[in-house]
Amino acid sequence: MAESQKKREVILSGIRPTGRLHYGNYFGAIRHFLKLQESGDAICYYFVADYHALTTITTREDIYQNTIDMLRTYVACGLDPNKSIIYRQSDLPSTAELTLLLGMITNIGFLERGTTYKDKLSKLQEDAKIDGNPLSFGLLGYPVLMAADILIVRADKVPVGDDQRQHVEMAIDIAQRFNSRFGETLHVPQAVGREALRLPGLDGSSKMGKSEHNTLDLLDDPDTVLKKVRAVETSTDPLPLPVESNDPDAIIPHMPPGVGVLYRLLSLLAPEPLYLEFVQKYRNGEKFYGKLKQEVARLVSEFNAPIIEKFHHPENNRDYVEAFLRANAQKVTPVALETVEAVREAMGIGHSLYRA
Ligand code: TRP
Repeated sequence: MAESQKKREVILSGIRPTGRLHYGNYFGAIRHFLKLQESGDAICYYFVADYHALTTITTREDIYQNTIDMLRTYVACGLDPNKSIIYRQSDLPSTAELTLLLGMITNIGFLERGTTYKDKLSKLQEDAKIDGNPLSFGLLGYPVLMAADILIVRADKVPVGDDQRQHVEMAIDIAQRFNSRFGETLHVPQAVGREALRLPGLDGSSKMGKSEHNTLDLLDDPDTVLKKVRAVETSTDPLPLPVESNDPDAIIPHMPPGVGVLYRLLSLLAPEPLYLEFVQKYRNGEKFYGKLKQEVARLVSEFNAPIIEKFHHPENNRDYVEAFLRANAQKVTPVALETVEAVREAMGIGHSLYRA
């Protein structure tokens, strides 16, 4: 048993509690978390990044409630706090200490090249014609905090969407720099693969995202779903498909963007014959978008129904969440303290009271 546990891969991923979970989160990440959880082959750490959310959320009610609701949604989706170690970032304050230590060896130029940071800054400067830099220390240091999240549990793999890939690469970089300066101390994670699905937004843009306001949410009720799906832009008639394959990856790029979104959803949710039936209609150039939207809305609502039910289940309440957060903070804390202790030792600073 001990032998096989040693070999289990360590997986970590986090998500910011900035709103409700959407289909992009589910099909880009949560779906894979569930598979890993059920396989039992890995030690899975999934956390809600409430420290990170402090760079954008300002009220205490929002940050607290969003975190709890995010965790209730995780549970509603099937993530099991007894199988996966689901925790809240700030319940592991040693992450903040590791951030401080890693920050000492991370130069500002490196952080300024982070695309999230760069984009935010240039957008602000363009929109508001601001010359100075109004962004926070926390935002510049966002990748250092993220590196600390990853390195503190000695993660092997960090499954994330495209938009977070650079941050994971920065974490790898920071770990390597630390090790070459202070000796092999930090476990360097593997780079992220490219297999994560990027779901387009309901507006037809390339990415579904909270800040883009183009999401389909896991907790959307049937009326909301219908409204959102009906609003998807489908004014362009089917275009000729220059490929024989019916694979969504092969055909969707040839479709008008809004229509492509509907087919992507169909491919994820519908039984294959139904998906193929609609691909055929498209190839025939029939007029069928109304029916397509009806079917997609139905499938989405059917997918959401059990999640909504579990989300609202009386047992899946705040007390339940608080209880498993406490238990899981206890599970992850020893690993984290050990890492920080090793880093302190490597850097030659004092020991904490904790001894591994
Ligand atoms: N930055 C990630 C996001 O916005 C969330 C996150 C924080 C994270 N720390 C992480 C993801 C560590 C993976 C690993 O979605």
